[in-house]
Amino acid sequence: MSDRPERAGWTPPLRRRRRSDWATQTPTWREARPALIADALKRASARRSGNWFVVGASRDVRAGGRPYGRTVGGVEVVLWRSDTGAVHAGPGACPHLGAPLRDSRVVCGTLVCHWHGLTLDGGSFAGWDPYPVHDDGVLVWVRLDAVGGEEPLERPMVPERPAAGIGVDAVFTTVGRCEPQDVVANRLDPWHGSWFHPYSFVDLTVARPPTAEDDTFVVDVSFRVTGRLVVPVRAEFTAPGPRTVVMRITEGEGSSSVVETHATPLTREAEQRPRTAVVEVVVAASDRRGFALARAAAPVLRPLMRRTAGRLWRDDLAYAERRWALRSTGRFPG
Ligand code: FES
Ligand SMILES: [Fe+2]
Repeated sequence: MSDRPERAGWTPPLRRRRRSDWATQTPTWREARPALIADALKRASARRSGNWFVVGASRDVRAGGRPYGRTVGGVEVVLWRSDTGAVHAGPGACPHLGAPLRDSRVVCGTLVCHWHGLTLDGGSFAGWDPYPVHDDGVLVWVRLDAVGGEEPLERPMVPERPAAGIGVDAVFTTVGRCEPQDVVANRLDPWHGSWFHPYSFVDLTVARPPTAEDDTFVVDVSFRVTGRLVVPVRAEFTAPGPRTVVMRITEGEGSSSVVETHATPLTREAEQRPRTAVVEVVVAASDRRGFALARAAAPVLRPLMRRTAGRLWRDDLAYAERRWALRSTGRFPG
């Protein structure tokens, strides 16, 4: 007896699509109203982050060896993992004479400054005070109250993901010359999908745009696998925080898979030449049997997933950087 009754309605994930031309698809610009995107961005920006910022992938903060360094909102941060696996974070300058702690070494879970050997075990020492840090298993977050300026929250709002062990995750990071809101605005315009990224998406329609009551974009789209082979899905886009947009596949192949886009400011607010890190998490899940094999192949799949995200993000960063360039010179339409 099958324990998978839903397999009666099983359909192969790949569909063959009629050939069509990029230029003959339906234009989306009338639906992609600038005011609608601006309103969605305004609602997202008003949400709380509790001063938590994504600093990178959990697997980038390794045990032993080198610490991990990042500048967030103009604040230098150093992170390292102790022998027990706990992550520590704090100011990136040594409290003795300011050495860059990202270049120091981790010895037996303790940070040892490479200039004169001062050691930090993660607790306050000589004016060096740790920052609250959270490792959600995929990403590491740091709470910077001076940068966020909000009422702090005990924990970051980590988006719901497929259960550990079910999904294959990959984290992709890139940096653009723009502010976090330009990255978020790009993600809150799903209409550009099959026009701007025809190599990845076809037949994109926004089934339901967001409203103040239900702030979710419902999008029907097909992922292009090869020329005419596509995987149709329904996806929902939400912005659970001011710097995060989540896409969740709700119907079709890979249902429950998520793509989280986190925009972390590297420079101070109102900086003339802002820089923003885009940290994108893909957690691909599927209940298909073949996916057990995919999980076993995760180390091989990760770079592949990163490469796909990399191509999309080259174009999306160009969009975000262009938006910033226009905004900063008073040339943004509207
Ligand atoms: S600067 Fe770090 S120990 Fe002197
Ligand atoms: Fe895009």
